[in-house]
Amino acid sequence: MNRMLAILLLVIWSQSVAANAGLRWDALQKTVTTKADATNAVVSFVVTNSSKASVRFYRIKPSCGCTSTTAPKTPWNLNSGKFQKLEFATDLRGKRGTLRKSVIVQTSSGTMLLRMNINISEPTGDALRKRNQQIAKADRFAIFHGQCANCHVKPTYNKQGRELYVAACGICHDAEHRADIVTDLRAVKFGQNEIYWRHWITRGKSGTLMPPFARENGGPISKAQVESLIAYMLGDWKKDKPARYKEPAVRQ
Ligand code: HEC
Ligand code: HEC
Repeated sequence: MNRMLAILLLVIWSQSVAANAGLRWDALQKTVTTKADATNAVVSFVVTNSSKASVRFYRIKPSCGCTSTTAPKTPWNLNSGKFQKLEFATDLRGKRGTLRKSVIVQTSSGTMLLRMNINISEPTGDALRKRNQQIAKADRFAIFHGQCANCHVKPTYNKQGRELYVAACGICHDAEHRADIVTDLRAVKFGQNEIYWRHWITRGKSGTLMPPFARENGGPISKAQVESLIAYMLGDWKKDKPARYKEPAVRQ
């Protein structure tokens, strides 16, 4: 928001309380917290005309095209003693964090600013997992970037062989509650030779959640790490019990 607009809104807002003696709002500012998977947030305000005369509503204008209202189409009158509920729905798709939205309401009894703070909950548990799967479906390289990398890449740094497997691969393949879409590597009966491991580690499979891990193809692990991993897969891996991935201490 540019500065002029900010000042203008502040002036309107500070005046609105005084100027609208005739209109009584249940609040001029509301804060809501939505569920992590909500696609929109609905905030409603109730305005009562406590004056003797009817008040005309000329314009109700949300600050953003993503906010729609069920308020009557302007202009309309609010008769003396009557109240009206104004509902505003803000589209949350693709949004995260806290959104601050406002609505300018112009009436014959003055102009006022309604403010809405919308806190979008971060998904947790199954919702978080589902969201991460969707992100990975759209881009299998996503696990190597941003916050995903805290758990899917950082723990692989400087690791070799078994430790590298646990951090890079076991996190998905040996998960205690392994997702159905993730292959149970230990149930594959044939063909787990060097060519197989090299292929999957360096190439993964496009169109699935399995990305290439080798640096040459956009992954996070070096040639030496690839070799150490292949050696481990052909060696002790079959004998080892699946070691559970541990959440790294550093998280953001
Ligand atoms: C806090 C650590 C952590 C972060 C951050 C994280 N993951 Fe994961 N991820 C895991 C663990 C642990 C598993 C194993 C399954 C489980 O226990 O939920 C997993 C499994 C997966 C799987 C396999 C499918 C499944 O549900 O088991 C995919 C795909 C995935 N993560 C993608 C992502 C993406 C994309 C991001 C970033 C948007 C991300 N992860 C961020 C820890 C994390
Ligand atoms: C983000 C989760 C995830 C991580 C991390 C991951 N994989 Fe996978 N992997 C998958 C998924 C999902 C598939 C299934 C692909 C498909 O649909 O064919 C798969 C498939 C495979 C297959 C093919 C199994 C078969 O015979 O069909 C191999 C081998 C494999 N992964 C090895 C690895 C190795 C080695 C690592 C570590 C370098 C690793 N994976 C890391 C999710 C993951």
